[in-house]
Amino acid sequence: MTITFSLNGAPVSVTAPPTTTLLDWLRETQGLTGTKEGCNEGDCGACTVMVTDTAGAKALNACILFLPQLHGKAVRTVEGASAPDGTLHPVQQAMVTHHGSQCGFCTPGFIMSMATAHRNGQTGHDDALAGNLCRCTGYAPIIRAAKAAEGAPVPGWVQDSAPAAAPIAPADFALPESADELATWYAANPEATLIAGATDVGLWVTKHLSTLDKVAFLHRCTDLQDISETAEGLRIGAGVTMDRVLTAIKPRHPAFAEMIRRYGSTQVRGAATIGGNIANGSPIGDSPPPLIALGATLHLRRADSRRSLPIEDFFIGYGKQDRAEGEFVEAVTIPAQPDRLRVYKLSKRFDQDISALCGAFNITLEAGIVTQARIAFGGMAGTPKRASAVEAALTGQPWTEQTLQSATKIFAEDFSPLSDARASAKYRLTAAQNMLRRAWLEDQGTAHSVLEVRP
Ligand SMILES: Cc1cc2nc3c(=O)[nH]c(=O)nc-3n(C[C@H](O)[C@H](O)[C@H](O)COP(=O)(O)OP(=O)(O)OC[C@H]3O[C@@H](n4cnc5c(N)ncnc54)[C@H](O)[C@@H]3O)c2cc1C
Ligand code: FES
Ligand code: FES
Repeated sequence: MTITFSLNGAPVSVTAPPTTTLLDWLRETQGLTGTKEGCNEGDCGACTVMVTDTAGAKALNACILFLPQLHGKAVRTVEGASAPDGTLHPVQQAMVTHHGSQCGFCTPGFIMSMATAHRNGQTGHDDALAGNLCRCTGYAPIIRAAKAAEGAPVPGWVQDSAPAAAPIAPADFALPESADELATWYAANPEATLIAGATDVGLWVTKHLSTLDKVAFLHRCTDLQDISETAEGLRIGAGVTMDRVLTAIKPRHPAFAEMIRRYGSTQVRGAATIGGNIANGSPIGDSPPPLIALGATLHLRRADSRRSLPIEDFFIGYGKQDRAEGEFVEAVTIPAQPDRLRVYKLSKRFDQDISALCGAFNITLEAGIVTQARIAFGGMAGTPKRASAVEAALTGQPWTEQTLQSATKIFAEDFSPLSDARASAKYRLTAAQNMLRRAWLEDQGTAHSVLEVRP
């Protein structure tokens, strides 16, 4: 099966195994070794490229992008950042002027993140560059360079547009164009692996060296990427990437959006989908706790049959979800409600780190009494899980220090967390209790974060 896209402005047609990564293909077959391999797992940004589709340009990590994910898109690597006559891109010139590079290994990735942010008029440089690691220069000169280039016009040569691409009939892999097409194909091939953003599946290939025999790519099912206001609430398609979830959720639940700002990096949020983050069933996935606290409903589909369930019921046990063979996540709906959500992500680094735990609190008050409490955690059990006993201890009680103290003691009834590399069981339990205290303190008007970085 032949994939077509454009590479630094020139059309290319590629026939290769579907789990060939863009990084390997660029370096090993095209001689484009400017795109670097640092971690090969989406963490360091050394492999960042600019990818343009009909929705615009994104910085993405080439190491966990499979070639079929590029069908009908435009790829620009660091070799295409400067003009054909050698004129530097304004961010390249600014990096020279501001001494933004020492050993230079990270520099191509920084340049592509900066060039993409520059093209998109994005001036939140900390957010744009949180997924690019530099070991020697230090970030100050790089941020100075990014700021210096802000006002320069976007060079014409990086303004790729997405080329037209013909639909591809399933052969050794499937590239469906709609949820209907996916549903029919997946019901007939339930043993296949679905690939949405590949920010998990990519690592199965690059780190676990798995061979995936039969795969379907979901990114061309545009109807899975809708965000709509329905009678039930805000419906978000499974294929919506986390950067778009952030934008959609921000006016409704700013604390959820603020947590997503710390979810992976710009490159990860641009690829990862909410459907993948739910379907992978990870106990430390960051979107399930707030979705559970908000009372979200998950929509599943197998062939033409659909069902919906409260999202917490989807997570049955460690590595086990309520999903039948050939069934996929179609969407999630967040019911409309006044915003009372607080979300706290606790990780060793502020940016680009997996949660040790993530707590979401949706506590409704009337005249100082807790009328409803929905509290959920990631990282505290084998699944994302509600704190049902704590919720029961709060409901009907005055929202006071005394109630808080009684509820805090009950956490051990809900959770017996594990110790692992990220945190000990005792730390997790104590931190979860303190998160409830923080929610209470914030309701008393006490700003309580010493770490929060506000733009
Ligand atoms: C560097 C890095 C940082 C990360 N940081 C975070 C973080 O801060 N917080 C966090 O929660 N996660 C993080 N992740 C994990 C990852 O980004 C998420 O789990 C992501 O949401 C997965 O979505 P995806 O679209 O990339 O899924 P994929 O990798 O494509 O798929 C993941 C799983 O879901 C299945 N799947 C995908 N879509 C569907 C569907 N519609 N129906 C049924 N099954 C489906 C796939 O078959 C696979 O089993 C990080 C990953 C990386 C590489
Ligand atoms: S090589 Fe590190 S993010 Fe790709
Ligand atoms: S310049 Fe050496 S890692 Fe950034």
